[in-house]
Amino acid sequence: MKNITVLGGGTMGNGIAHVFAQYGYEVTLVDVVSEVLDKALVTIGGNLDRQIKKGTLDEQQKAAVLRRIHPMTDLKTGVADADLVVEAATENVDLKLKIFKDLDQLAPEKTILATNTSSISITKIAAATNRPAKVIGMHFMNPVPVMKLVEVIRGYATSDDVCRTIMALSEKLEKVPVEVNDYPGFVANRILMPMINEAIYALYEGVSGVEEIDTVMKLGMAHPMGPLQLADFIGLDVCLSILRVLHDGFGNPKYAPCPLLVNMVTAGKLGVKSREGFYAYTPGSKDIEVAARFR
Ligand SMILES: NC(=O)c1ccc[n+]([C@@H]2O[C@H](COP(=O)([O-])OP(=O)(O)OC[C@H]3O[C@@H](n4cnc5c(N)ncnc54)[C@H](O)[C@@H]3O)[C@@H](O)[C@H]2O)c1
Repeated sequence: MKNITVLGGGTMGNGIAHVFAQYGYEVTLVDVVSEVLDKALVTIGGNLDRQIKKGTLDEQQKAAVLRRIHPMTDLKTGVADADLVVEAATENVDLKLKIFKDLDQLAPEKTILATNTSSISITKIAAATNRPAKVIGMHFMNPVPVMKLVEVIRGYATSDDVCRTIMALSEKLEKVPVEVNDYPGFVANRILMPMINEAIYALYEGVSGVEEIDTVMKLGMAHPMGPLQLADFIGLDVCLSILRVLHDGFGNPKYAPCPLLVNMVTAGKLGVKSREGFYAYTPGSKDIEVAARFR
């Protein structure tokens, strides 16, 4: 593994490109919007500066990391030499199926195709290609340079060899990979989203208030952030859509999204990104700063 292509330069894509480049890989960063690529490089530069401040990196290393990232908008050129593609484009089933169909046509036969999807079936994505054994989930957490976990998701047809390669590669990035099978929500969101939904139910049913619920989970369970604030940071629309994947996938009413969550999303209260969710986020406030780092 030498050449990594990261598809999508948004929140996750720029973090994934950052980490691969930091550990010596040549990274081609592809996005359909060229301004996103400019912004991604600025973000990566800022995050590298934060590492310098912490004393974990020096200026020379920063320059070397940035030199290893090659932004481009053309997918065909972008995947021509790829040993691995990590797709981190917008979470939309039809878009991902189209991307993987194209990747299958354009990338060399040896190339492993990974997706960072939070909720779409790896098996379904793999079925859009003629190489399902080489398709796998590589689910990084946000913010990628900071979070240690990589959920490595085996689709129905993913080969042992490909899974071993991705587990070993994640360790080279000094991450901790965990192998899981492809069922709705994988492990991370299957457990996190019902907890967030239950916190919203507790609020909806008047069991307690927003800050009280978050305080119970922070101080009682040693969670660094309460579930309602975490939901604001993730985006209430994203939470709702993952809960719907769980509900549809398992057909179990226990995953039904709380009506309050549905109402808030319908009303455009999406959390930090709309400046209002369970909390209000005023520009310049500390919460916005924390959320910006989180995103
Ligand atoms: N944000 C999170 O906390 C988080 C965490 C884990 C996983 N994920 C997953 O990561 C993926 C990306 O999420 P994000 O939050 O970075 O989204 P984002 O909206 O910040 O970025 C998505 C990027 O994909 C680009 N894009 C769209 N179509 C493309 C195409 N055909 N080719 C190349 N680029 C294309 C967009 O221009 C955009 O820049 C999603 O699958 C999401 O479920 C997100």
